[in-house]
Amino acid sequence: MAIRNIRIQGDAVLEKKCRPVKEMTPRIRELVRDMFDTMYEQDGVGLAAPQVGVLKRIVVIDTGEDPHVLINPVIEETSGEQRGYEGCLSLPNKSGIVTRPDFVRVRAFDENMQEYVLEGTELLARAICHECDHLEGIMYTSLVEGRLYDNSELSQEGEEEE
Ligand code: NI
Repeated sequence: MAIRNIRIQGDAVLEKKCRPVKEMTPRIRELVRDMFDTMYEQDGVGLAAPQVGVLKRIVVIDTGEDPHVLINPVIEETSGEQRGYEGCLSLPNKSGIVTRPDFVRVRAFDENMQEYVLEGTELLARAICHECDHLEGIMYTSLVEGRLYDNSELSQEGEEEE
C-alpha cells in the first residue's frame, strides 16, 4: 500500500491534458493500486491520475458499491440533470454547486486493458464526469454556480470529495 501526494489546485499539472495509456505495465498497475489507496485514505469517491502528478488518462472511482478503474475513458452518452454540491481532493474542505448529467454511459479499459462499458446515475454519474474532466485539465471550480463554500459552512450530508 502506498499513499501518493495529492496535488492541490494551483499546481500546473492539474491544468494539463492527459495522454492515453497505450499498454498496461507493472508501473501503471502500481499506479492504479496507489490511486485506490490514496483515494480511500482521503475518503474520496474518485481520483484521477493528474491529481497524483501523472498525466495519463486513468481514473479510479468508488461510490461505495464497486471499485471502478477507467483507463482512456470516453463518455458516450449523458442524459438528465442533477444539481448538487461537489468537492475535490485537490481542493480540500471546499464545495460548490455543479450541475451534471444524471445518467452517464462511459466506455473505458480496465486494469487488464479489457474494454468495457459502465453506466451510472446520481453520484456515480457525477463522479464519472468530474474525473473525466480532470483528464482534460478541468477543475470543477470552473463549473461552480455561485461561490465556493467551506465545508464547515455546510452540513456534512451530501458532500463528496472527488
Ligand atoms: Ni477532483
